[in-house]
Amino acid sequence: MKKISERIYYVGVNDDTKTLFEGLWPLPYGVSYNSYIVADSKVALIDTVEHGFEDEFLANINEALGDRGIDYLIVNHMEPDHSSLITDMLQRYPDMKIVGNAKTLPMLQGYYGTPAERVIVMKEGDSIDLGSCSLSFHMIPMVHWPETMVTWLAEENTVFSGDAFGTFGAVNEEVVDSEGTFGSFRDEMMRYYSNIVGKYGTPVQSALKKLSGLEVKRICSTHGPVWEKSVPEVVALYDRMSRYEVERGVCIAYGSMYGNTAAAAEALAEELRRQGVPCAVHDLAGNVNPGLGLSGALRDVFKYDTIVAASPTYNNGIFPPVETFMKALQARLIKGRRFYALGSYTWAGSSVNLLNSFAESLGFDVLAPGLSFPQAYSPEKCNVQEIASILKG
Ligand SMILES: Cc1cc2nc3c(=O)[nH]c(=O)nc-3n(C[C@H](O)[C@H](O)[C@H](O)COP(=O)(O)O)c2cc1C
Ligand SMILES: [Fe+2]
Ligand SMILES: [Fe+2]
Repeated sequence: MKKISERIYYVGVNDDTKTLFEGLWPLPYGVSYNSYIVADSKVALIDTVEHGFEDEFLANINEALGDRGIDYLIVNHMEPDHSSLITDMLQRYPDMKIVGNAKTLPMLQGYYGTPAERVIVMKEGDSIDLGSCSLSFHMIPMVHWPETMVTWLAEENTVFSGDAFGTFGAVNEEVVDSEGTFGSFRDEMMRYYSNIVGKYGTPVQSALKKLSGLEVKRICSTHGPVWEKSVPEVVALYDRMSRYEVERGVCIAYGSMYGNTAAAAEALAEELRRQGVPCAVHDLAGNVNPGLGLSGALRDVFKYDTIVAASPTYNNGIFPPVETFMKALQARLIKGRRFYALGSYTWAGSSVNLLNSFAESLGFDVLAPGLSFPQAYSPEKCNVQEIASILKG
């Protein structure tokens, strides 16, 4: 538990054991499920945490409230990492009402069989009075689910933003950001955005427009630190990413069975670095150079303007992890990238042409026919200096 202000308490938890978020995205630095209490004459709890953390969550609530009850449970977002303790809370607090919106209600019923009489349905701009302050509710549909809303506490210029402005990475005991916090979370915030929210650039832009009328001094999201010092940086990063704005640099994403395509991709990365070109390289299958894989590659696609996809030919097609990467770009509506393909084959190479066609269908600028090379990697077959100069343009 951490007291954030006179009225606001952090009662969230860190998850250091889960390895894959949403069953897909690696968590090398853990993740937090944030929940907040606003305690006034009336008490509101904003979102819950994932099941499995009941004891710690209840201890935090207890530490914040003592034997006071909870009047409202505000549900900004129904994804189970925040909602899976709702039934538990309804049982513990029989007088507590859930506060959601018209789209929350059927999800509550479908997931948890929540009785409608326990739910108060809010419309855009509606508010509840807590005594000396009130909470108002603003819909931000598709950031990143349809029922998503934010809760605004005007008296403290604080937005409880759900997953918006969230990041992977467990929080320290301070919870609130300090000097350097934003810098240390920036990459993980980009990875969270690109992996989870990346498809919804337009809804994020609409949400940012809505917030731009408010003088936000504190952001309490559902994952990662509470932002006070770095509110402008956090908002600017979300604005940039949701406009798909990138800088010059290269994201190399490869898959490889026997290391030949990997060797070419890694040699290209080394050459780019040698020439001072910002560059990131990710092994999508993780069998040659395990790392963040697809998750890290997507982050760097939101960072850099040039994509190199490298795949061996596999049954006349693209090696499946690389195909998944291309589909992930399509799903995130990535546009306007510069593109180059390469890969090894043994008897008839087709992966490079297929990657180029895929890239063209996404509207990418395919910089050159690419490099399809037979069997083993060698510097003679793969002139990485030449590829680097194509990529530099
Ligand atoms: C299951 C499987 C399917 C393959 N299909 C093709 C193919 O359709 N055409 C081809 O030229 N080579 C094919 N190959 C050969 C690989 O493309 C070749 O071994 C390549 O060098 C592998 O690159 P890597 O070392 O980056 O995995 C196949 C290999 C495997 C294991
Ligand atoms: Fe979510
Ligand atoms: Fe979440």
